[in-house]
Amino acid sequence: MLNRGKVEEILSDYKGFKIATICSHSSLQIFKGAREEGIKTIGIVQKDRRKVYESFPLGRPDEFIEVDSYEKLPYEELVEKEAIIIPHGSFVEYAGKKFDELPVPIYGNRASINWERNREKMLSWIRKAGVKTPTLMKTPDDIDRPVMVKFPGARGGRGYTIVKSKEEFDKRVKEKEYILQEFIIGVRAYPHYFFSAFNNHGYKTEHGCLELLGVDRRVESSADEIARAHSIGMARDMAFTVIGNESMVLRESLLTEYMEIGKKISEKSFELFGGLTGPFCVETIITEDLEIFAFEVSARIVAGTNIYPEGSPYSCYYYHEPMSVGRRIARELKTAAKKKKLTKIVY
Ligand SMILES: Nc1ncnc2c1ncn2[C@@H]1O[C@H](COP(=O)(O)OP(=O)(O)OP(=O)(O)O)[C@@H](O)[C@H]1O
Ligand SMILES: [Mg+2]
Repeated sequence: MLNRGKVEEILSDYKGFKIATICSHSSLQIFKGAREEGIKTIGIVQKDRRKVYESFPLGRPDEFIEVDSYEKLPYEELVEKEAIIIPHGSFVEYAGKKFDELPVPIYGNRASINWERNREKMLSWIRKAGVKTPTLMKTPDDIDRPVMVKFPGARGGRGYTIVKSKEEFDKRVKEKEYILQEFIIGVRAYPHYFFSAFNNHGYKTEHGCLELLGVDRRVESSADEIARAHSIGMARDMAFTVIGNESMVLRESLLTEYMEIGKKISEKSFELFGGLTGPFCVETIITEDLEIFAFEVSARIVAGTNIYPEGSPYSCYYYHEPMSVGRRIARELKTAAKKKKLTKIVY
């Protein structure tokens, strides 16, 4: 992990700052939000994609830096331009393990991305926080109920298989590296939290306050439409390829529990790695008995927030103005800069 001192040194030379990220769906709300907060933006883009991102007058960056590939980003140029990078899903994926060492200031605590990247670590974070997770089977011999076989690395849900027995596992799974996780039947909900140490509103935690800025649910092919196949007698397996996201509000009795889930995950992050700051999302499934299981944490802005570029049915209870997560990030950076505390939320 890059030394914190190095980032502090770079930041101490900044007279101001610009918000930068790779052009992606989330970048649209990041740039729009920054624009609304009066912060200049830089979009890193592959030549062939520029046309798309240029075509949104309110979602495009103030300036583009064109690159041949996202493998190698122009870090010196970014530092020269006083950039602070906002990591989103695609950014983290393109950077891979190199993320930890990137020689440029990154919004958030970069250690949190290290914890989300490793599935064992990420699940242990959730468990240690005291949030229920689906049972893990140690070996295929332990399979005594439907389990989801998950492979390393986020694949946007692609390629995961559900097996019900050791025999089925042996027949269908050829990979050597996997985890076996109990398959939970229920409704998925993905709450979007925002942690701030500067807030004086929100759900109080040990280290600051938590806002719930939205909830979404993913639409996955073919799992979410599998009834169609079954209705005409096709015995198709479910697949979990993410196609998009839908808006959601939680039934009232769940709100309390979701606030607590966010609080627990947030508080544990301080014990484990010095604290996650800013946006994060917990991927959950709620059973018919209203039991909530969490199976993933994303320690950054997530794609599901893109359904709320003008705020959500939750953000409107914190802010008079439309508050997307992108705009909330820009505002947090502005607040920190004003308080001369950028290094608290940039690393
Ligand atoms: N234990 C589980 N029980 C039931 N469904 C699950 C379970 N775990 C995952 N799923 C389903 O599979 C999808 C993908 O799972 P998961 O999020 O673990 O994959 P991923 O490859 O890490 O994807 P991403 O990083 O894009 O979220 C989920 O959105 C959900 O629909
Ligand atoms: Mg996931």
